[in-house]
Amino acid sequence: MKVLKKLALAGHSRDVGFGEVLEIDDKKIYRYMKPIYVERACLDCHGEREKILPAIRQFLERRYPHDEAYDYKEGYLRGGISITISLEAL
Ligand code: HEC
Repeated sequence: MKVLKKLALAGHSRDVGFGEVLEIDDKKIYRYMKPIYVERACLDCHGEREKILPAIRQFLERRYPHDEAYDYKEGYLRGGISITISLEAL
């Protein structure tokens, strides 16, 4: 969550993730997070509910009746993919 906040800062380049070396339980690790931004293509399923193509909307409502992931806007930061590797073996 802290890293996501850093990535959301206005000055942070959208093309760059955030990496850091940390020590957890006396073990050195490197972790890196790549931000996920909402692109045009995401709006086919996550845009304004009324504007989603009926075929897609029906499918989503049938398969994911509790889905609330609508009204996303292009450019929104929607999360991140993070990897962690141990530096012990290096
Ligand atoms: C073909 C339709 C489709 C497209 C295109 C799509 N998604 Fe999704 N997405 C879904 C569905 C369906 C779910 C809900 C899955 C579930 O409830 O298990 C979901 C879930 C999510 C969630 C989790 C929502 C939550 O709060 O639990 C996020 C974040 C997300 N999508 C982001 C994106 C982003 C960013 C893109 C574009 C890069 C994208 N999606 C493109 C169908 C789509």
